[in-house]
Amino acid sequence: MNSIWIDSVPKILNDSKKIDMDISCDVTIVGGGITGLTSAYYLSKKGLKVVVLEKDSLMSKTSGNTTAKITAQHGLFYKYLIDTFGLETAKKYLSCNLQAIDNIKSIIDTEKIDCDFEYQNSYVFTKSNSYVQDIKDEVKALHMLDFDAKLLTKIPLPISNVLCAVEFPNQAQFNPRKYGVGLCNSILNNGGIIFEDSKVTDIQKIKDMYSISVGEHTVVSKYVILATRYPFINAPGFYFLKMYQALSYCASFELSSDAFSGMYINAENPTLSARIAKYNDKNVLLLSGCSHKVGKPSGVSDPYSTLTTFAHSIDADSKLISKWVTEDGVSLDKLPYIGKFSSFMPNMYIPSGFKKWGMTLSNVASNIIVDEILGNKNEYANIFDSTRLHPIQNKEEMGNMIKEATSSIVIKKFNLPNATIQSLASNEGKIIEFEGAKVGVYKDKDGNIYKIKPICPHLGCELSWNTVNKTWDCPCHGSRFDYTGKLLYGPSLHDLTIL
Ligand SMILES: Cc1cc2nc3c(=O)[nH]c(=O)nc-3n(C[C@H](O)[C@H](O)[C@H](O)COP(=O)(O)OP(=O)(O)OC[C@H]3O[C@@H](n4cnc5c(N)ncnc54)[C@H](O)[C@@H]3O)c2cc1C
Ligand code: FES
Repeated sequence: MNSIWIDSVPKILNDSKKIDMDISCDVTIVGGGITGLTSAYYLSKKGLKVVVLEKDSLMSKTSGNTTAKITAQHGLFYKYLIDTFGLETAKKYLSCNLQAIDNIKSIIDTEKIDCDFEYQNSYVFTKSNSYVQDIKDEVKALHMLDFDAKLLTKIPLPISNVLCAVEFPNQAQFNPRKYGVGLCNSILNNGGIIFEDSKVTDIQKIKDMYSISVGEHTVVSKYVILATRYPFINAPGFYFLKMYQALSYCASFELSSDAFSGMYINAENPTLSARIAKYNDKNVLLLSGCSHKVGKPSGVSDPYSTLTTFAHSIDADSKLISKWVTEDGVSLDKLPYIGKFSSFMPNMYIPSGFKKWGMTLSNVASNIIVDEILGNKNEYANIFDSTRLHPIQNKEEMGNMIKEATSSIVIKKFNLPNATIQSLASNEGKIIEFEGAKVGVYKDKDGNIYKIKPICPHLGCELSWNTVNKTWDCPCHGSRFDYTGKLLYGPSLHDLTIL
């Protein structure tokens, strides 16, 4: 099912085109989500010739399926930042994310973008005694950063049993696809070029230029920004060792009562997020949550039922309108990677690992990368240094990643399951043994059988069946495919082999 954003803005560009020529420019931007488009906007405004290459359609992956809160409140994060990286880093993280809210508002005002932007306070709340101290500690941490966060025992969200909450004043929310339309119009007015349905399959360095392959065509530029959410280039960079992807479920509900003010997320597990959004000129309740690593089981038996129960705790008579799922990259130390892709690839940049807070972080990343390209100093660049090594010194997470990859790549291949196609129930997917080989099989409700090779084209991990979404999911780096084998989310560049 489509998100409310895709439903309300079915096309970002009326006159969409696929690349049909070789072209040269100053900066090639790979990926047309909010990060790629924001970078293209700033660079084109500075007079640089930019080309945006989008594999599918613009703002149709994570940026078109998000909850779109524009806030510096990224869950309970600032105590973690102070404890792990120190006061200075935490101060800078807060400051650049608050600045990003102003930057987004300034783009909206300058370009007159009608995108339902509105200021809202943001809250992390808890109903569990076990998290009260965490909230108090977060407030204390924010006061150490001279930020006026408030500790509250009452919040405007109409649910019972809230014990306490931390409030960030003057944050914001919008419709991300309407914002994307505005960014694209400005990029085109500034002389930028945007191609959809144009998948980049290779990037080669030739002397001090990059040659970017898109089907039979080539784009040549001095600078490249890899704004693909998760990089599809494995080496150098080795980001597949330094980050994973997490999947979250979303749903919208028709309200039977008045809309509330504010944007909310709870502190406990499963994490649940709530805001009001405009959809078809009405206020609807937008929820998301139940996040888990792609390819791993969700911590709850049915994420959409959990969201529905949450909706009914806010408004007992609310009615489900739509539900969808999307994912985002998470670095091992929880700070995004923003900056040089690798020391071996000068002038190529990565903005990634936004851990589900990319509305502000895409703006932060775009400003850092644009400053780097223009030769300007950016005071926030050092805290996001993408070539830093401490993430892989996180022994626990690193150990998990290696264990996951090893069991997916090596052990499972020698371990044939005994199930047969006949044993599959309707609407069930499984990896089974078929003529001596492992086969991924899905049987639809009419008994039609879809068979795929259950090995991820990215780096060869064995896929898992996702019962909730009827997709094949990769536990290693988060590629996802529909039951026919069609690629939904990268880093894989290819569909599955159909058997
Ligand atoms: C459920 C959920 C809720 C969220 N809610 C919030 C929120 O409330 N507030 C917030 O701040 N953040 C939120 N986020 C995070 C935020 O939505 C993301 O961080 C952000 O949208 C990422 O944008 P992006 O442009 O980097 O990635 P994407 O939007 O995924 O864009 C990347 C683009 O690159 C393209 N691409 C990939 N490979 C290639 C290739 N080889 N060639 C050409 N193009 C390619 C893809 O097709 C895609 O369009 C949420 C995330 C999730 C999962
Ligand atoms: S996404 Fe990397 S192996 Fe599947």
